[in-house]
Amino acid sequence: MNILVINGPNLSQLGKRDQNHYGSFTLDDLKDKIIKKFPDLTFDFFQSNHEGEIIDQLEAYMDYDGIVINPGAFTHYSYAIRDCIEAIPKIIIEVHISNVYNREDFRKESVISPVCTGKISGLKDYSYILAVEYIVNNL
Ligand code: DQA
Repeated sequence: MNILVINGPNLSQLGKRDQNHYGSFTLDDLKDKIIKKFPDLTFDFFQSNHEGEIIDQLEAYMDYDGIVINPGAFTHYSYAIRDCIEAIPKIIIEVHISNVYNREDFRKESVISPVCTGKISGLKDYSYILAVEYIVNNL
């Protein structure tokens, strides 16, 4: 089973961002944790600060059994990523490290959620682990 994990803008800066919201782990720590939790699966990890690059990567969906995506701030306004996901016939889970509901009001709005299979927010690195677990159990 092959799973794509996409991280959007500024998630390359994990470890340096506000630790109350994002913890102290880096993006590499996060990748290691996912790989260790699921040794029988294969993963592609993709991070980009650019909307079009994320869409290009999503368009390779045929190579994957499921997709986990943290769109970062694009969550709140990218109709382009939303429209791309809408056309993908795969399990796609939206994840957030922080709890987007106890932060600024603009974070409560997601244009991505309505076209995803589900959404996990606020469980730090475990948001990703639970998303992968869902995909594994629901294919
Ligand atoms: C985030 C939440 C977004 O609001 C924010 O812009 C991010 C990270 C999260 O993982 O909690 O960059 O997606």
